[in-house]
Amino acid sequence: MEKKWWHGKTAYQIYPKSFYDSNGDGIGDIPGIISKLDYLKELGADILWLSPVYVSPMADQGYDIADYYGIDPRFGTMEDMDRLLEEARKRDMYILMDLVVNHCSDEHEWFRKACEDPDGPFGEYFYLRRAGENWEKELPCNWRSYFGGPVWNRLPETDRIYLHVFHKKQPDLNWENPGLRDEIYKMINWWLDKGLAGFRIDAIINIKKPLPLTSYPADREDGLCSMDTVLAHAEGIGEFLGEMRDRAFAPHDAFTVGEVFNDKEGELEDFIGENGYFSSMFDFRETLEGKSEEGWYASRKPTPDEYKRCCFESQRRSEGIGYLSNIIENHDEPRGVSHYLPREAQNETGKKLLATMYFCLKGLPFIYQGQELGMENIEFRSIDDVDDVNTLDEYQVALKAGLSEEEALKAVNQYSRDNARTPFQWNSEENAGFTTGTPWLRVNPNYTEINAEEEMGRQDSVWNYYRKLSALRKDPAYRETLVYGRTEPVLEEVSGIMAYFRRGEGQTILVIGNFTGEPRQVELPELEKGRKRLLLDNDLLWEKEKKEAAAVPCPAYKDGKLWLKPFQAQVIEL
Ligand code: GLC
Ligand code: CA
Repeated sequence: MEKKWWHGKTAYQIYPKSFYDSNGDGIGDIPGIISKLDYLKELGADILWLSPVYVSPMADQGYDIADYYGIDPRFGTMEDMDRLLEEARKRDMYILMDLVVNHCSDEHEWFRKACEDPDGPFGEYFYLRRAGENWEKELPCNWRSYFGGPVWNRLPETDRIYLHVFHKKQPDLNWENPGLRDEIYKMINWWLDKGLAGFRIDAIINIKKPLPLTSYPADREDGLCSMDTVLAHAEGIGEFLGEMRDRAFAPHDAFTVGEVFNDKEGELEDFIGENGYFSSMFDFRETLEGKSEEGWYASRKPTPDEYKRCCFESQRRSEGIGYLSNIIENHDEPRGVSHYLPREAQNETGKKLLATMYFCLKGLPFIYQGQELGMENIEFRSIDDVDDVNTLDEYQVALKAGLSEEEALKAVNQYSRDNARTPFQWNSEENAGFTTGTPWLRVNPNYTEINAEEEMGRQDSVWNYYRKLSALRKDPAYRETLVYGRTEPVLEEVSGIMAYFRRGEGQTILVIGNFTGEPRQVELPELEKGRKRLLLDNDLLWEKEKKEAAAVPCPAYKDGKLWLKPFQAQVIEL
């Protein structure tokens, strides 16, 4: 694989609205991010992806953009953005923005012009269809929007309807129109010229619709079919993505990471292979495990063995093809520690275990804000605590399926996107030090225990463990192996144990973790050979670790056997 500047970096996702509020209005902002760059640097983050900060009515928290060239005043000004780019550059950090081009906001000028003149040029920017009085009963197709209900809505004050696969305030852009594509590439180039390192690319698989728009078999009682079914019928997305690469990303050598669900068998190479559409894409395999087509209420958490299988599947399918980006959570997912860890491992040891297992996989590790503290899901007191449109819809789905209000709340609480969107927990002061005003979303009450200030001051904290993981991956002695070495799963059939080798040139590193509450002994012939050096252990206390890690062989091996305590994780050079 051709080496790229970003392969050995640590990436970090900022959800600006909840990161740090600099002016007391309860909303995080760009000056707030600037003031925390040193914090991020200290952690080891190099590449920062900002969820959208463009002008937006916030129907979907900024993923509904009304002006691609403007910063929403809630987040600051264009001068602030320029300053952020400048301050990041000074620290050798790279900024990615979110590229949301499957849809815009219904408050975007393009949409307003389409309403004024649906037959004019801007009508062609969207998917419009003629509609009579009875349009709700005669929809052009029966697709279900991701946030519930049909994908059609009335184009205000016209005899047309428009398509929206997300919220009704997010009309889909018509990528079949070359004029629209020109506008998008122009905008991307404008941002890259400003000095962005690249983009995270939102919901991109949705840009190619199967045409003509038709209905597919219904999969729920609402008579609608899921977008998964729809996308399985779409062919030819490569023409758009290849063009976007050639006309926008490639000339700038931009780093791009795609939010790609629903890619088809064998397509990985086109997406992230040599001259792929993107530099990388997220591995979402484990986020899908346990999800039911019926909705969140019928979904269940993956078991540790399922988690392991998903990770290994992704490692296998990407080996020799491209470089995936690895996560345990993001702004659309529950907190990873609450989702993937068994109940008895919901503590600092367990959090470090999960961190070790995903961070050492081959691929670019992304940390989502607060993950480095071990932030957890929040408990909703009532549905009024919920802001997220997706959660509000899933709550209704659960009620319709017959759950009581209490059951429905509990069910959606597990998966709600708001779990990850609660304000960042900076310290144990009021509002977790996030704002001096009233936070836009309730702070998780556990901030008195889980917060950056406390953890940065404590050597054996989750925060310091993340810092060490990032430093280890960049350590010249191990970098080649941890960044480029092949992943070779071992002990795959052993339930409750997740283990893999990273094989570099003349170097092998074992990453192993015990996901059970029992001490476990495993046998690995490789442990008999040669000198062993413990690189990281979630069980050792700092002082002891410093002494022992030096060059002392690991005490827990004998005759090819290794003892692991409950939820212990180790990284060992063999
Ligand atoms: C992506 C975003 C999500 C958003 C959706 C629509 O999945 O991550 O937050 O709601 O796209 O833009
Ligand atoms: Ca603010």
